[in-house]
Amino acid sequence: MMSSAAAAPIRVLIVDDNRTNLMLMEMLVAKLGTCEILGFTSAAAAIEGLREQSFDVGIIDYQMPEVDGIELIRRIRQDSRFTSTPIVMVTVDQDTSVKMAALEAGAVEFLEKPIEPVEFGVRIRNLMRLSEALKNLADHAAWLRGAVDKATAALRWREEEIIERLSRASGYKDRETTFHTKRMARYCSILARELGLPEEFCRDIQLAAPMHDIGKVGISDDILMKNGPLSEGERSAMSAHTNIGADILSGSECDLLQLAAEIARTHHERWDGLGYPAALKGNSIPLSGRIAAIADVFDALTCERPYKEAWSFDRAFSYVVEQAGAQFDPACVAAFERCREAIKEVMHSFSDRGSMAA
Ligand SMILES: [Fe+2]
Ligand SMILES: [Fe+2]
Repeated sequence: MMSSAAAAPIRVLIVDDNRTNLMLMEMLVAKLGTCEILGFTSAAAAIEGLREQSFDVGIIDYQMPEVDGIELIRRIRQDSRFTSTPIVMVTVDQDTSVKMAALEAGAVEFLEKPIEPVEFGVRIRNLMRLSEALKNLADHAAWLRGAVDKATAALRWREEEIIERLSRASGYKDRETTFHTKRMARYCSILARELGLPEEFCRDIQLAAPMHDIGKVGISDDILMKNGPLSEGERSAMSAHTNIGADILSGSECDLLQLAAEIARTHHERWDGLGYPAALKGNSIPLSGRIAAIADVFDALTCERPYKEAWSFDRAFSYVVEQAGAQFDPACVAAFERCREAIKEVMHSFSDRGSMAA
């Protein structure tokens, strides 16, 4: 809730070159309650004073030497602190063109000289109330903005937590290590950034990519844990993990889960159309899938498996480069090549053998 701290005194600016009038108005304003009065006898002095100080209600005389009241109001309104602060203009002038000019400059009220104390009191009190209402409105708007930002951040945090836990769950069934998914996710965000994609996407792909193999929860352990090469039938059963994963993740309103579903479905598609599950070709494969394909394969190659040695960084890197236009999107491979050092750093920072360095 908004704080209900004790109300600060209302600051009233009064500008009149006639000292007697200025003193009279100061006295009348002081009678209206807890006020702080800023009195000036010239526009120049007021402008100088407002550099350091602020006000809530302004009372400005029209006829002043050098800079008149209308020009002073105009200058005050140029200051972003005072664009809607109530200002009343004091004038003897009955001329409507003066009043029109004052309204255009930003005056909201007029008071006529000689000042009639009762009318002055009522009008200034009304402006004080208006000023308070405006301030409360601004405070409320700021509080609302803060509350919305907080709620959005909490929602986002919960989405990220759910995703993190889903990724953890999928890790229990998949013999690929947690570090595989972490590295693979980082490669994805490095590639996305290099491709000039929006920062939000680069962050999201890093969060969504670890779930690319979540569909393996639907594959039998005999196939998943088999040490030798898979038979034709086993391979086709295994390839179902893409659609199973997409099925688990799709249909959500959460952007992150939608992206995760897209990656799960398409990370085994190939640029040349020889991939699975839909044999999509070229740009008909979503960009997230084209990025994830490189990240996933590169990391799998550099990892040791019961049935294969870990490839060296150079060998796996060359493989990705050779597959440009065949297995992988050439534009993504070009970005991958430009990020060679960053990729190498991630590979060494999240080693399966050692502890996570970052
Ligand atoms: Fe996969
Ligand atoms: Fe993978």
